[in-house]
Amino acid sequence: MCEDPFGGRRPTSHERMTGLPWDASYQHEPAPWDTGRPQPAVVRLASTGGLTGTVLDAGCGTGENTLHIASLGLPVLGVDVAGTAVAMAREKAAERGSEAEFAVADALHLDCLGRTFDTILDCALFHTFDADEQPVYTASLASVIKQGGTVYVVCFSDQGPDTGPHPVTQAALRAAFGEGWDVVSIEPERVQTRFHDENGAPAWFATVERR
Ligand SMILES: C[S@@+](CC[C@H](N)C(=O)[O-])C[C@H]1O[C@@H](n2cnc3c(N)ncnc32)[C@H](O)[C@@H]1O
Repeated sequence: MCEDPFGGRRPTSHERMTGLPWDASYQHEPAPWDTGRPQPAVVRLASTGGLTGTVLDAGCGTGENTLHIASLGLPVLGVDVAGTAVAMAREKAAERGSEAEFAVADALHLDCLGRTFDTILDCALFHTFDADEQPVYTASLASVIKQGGTVYVVCFSDQGPDTGPHPVTQAALRAAFGEGWDVVSIEPERVQTRFHDENGAPAWFATVERR
């Protein structure tokens, strides 16, 4: 199932910019976004019943959000291109007795999964894609979400001060989720990182439904 950490996969714009595969972020120090806890926005979403049915966590990293969702009894698959991150997530799942599933897969080609989902979480993946990749990504999401399903995107926003490294405008979110999608809401949010203070970085929390 899409087991291809880099070879054969076109590097993403972020990988081309840094000259490194995403996997390199997980090979030494904890990655800058890897706080070791689920994001407060995801915890709140889960506690208010926003996550239903089968869930996909796209760009799951070391799996804290996925594991939190699984702890609520929901079937959830976390996918990431970074094999090291997926291995770390699987190890945490084993330690915690979690039923969360993890796979190495490219979020730009989710049809490779051969599965569909009621809910998709994107926590800090969308903002890593450039303007050319964003519509490819939303088409990929469309290939695996059920009709009437919901995508939640948590991404850095352009509303400073102290914006994250890939600030996204509301207009970019709306443009990427065009035909076949309803952008229900885009609310101000905060994202925790290892390089911001306890208030985190300014973010958007977008709720998007598949028609
Ligand atoms: C900023 S991190 C966020 C990780 C996690 N969601 C979190 O909240 O801690 C972005 C993640 O997306 C992954 N990623 C980047 N491009 C991807 C792609 N095309 N398909 C799947 N995962 C990707 C990276 O490896 C990285 O783990």
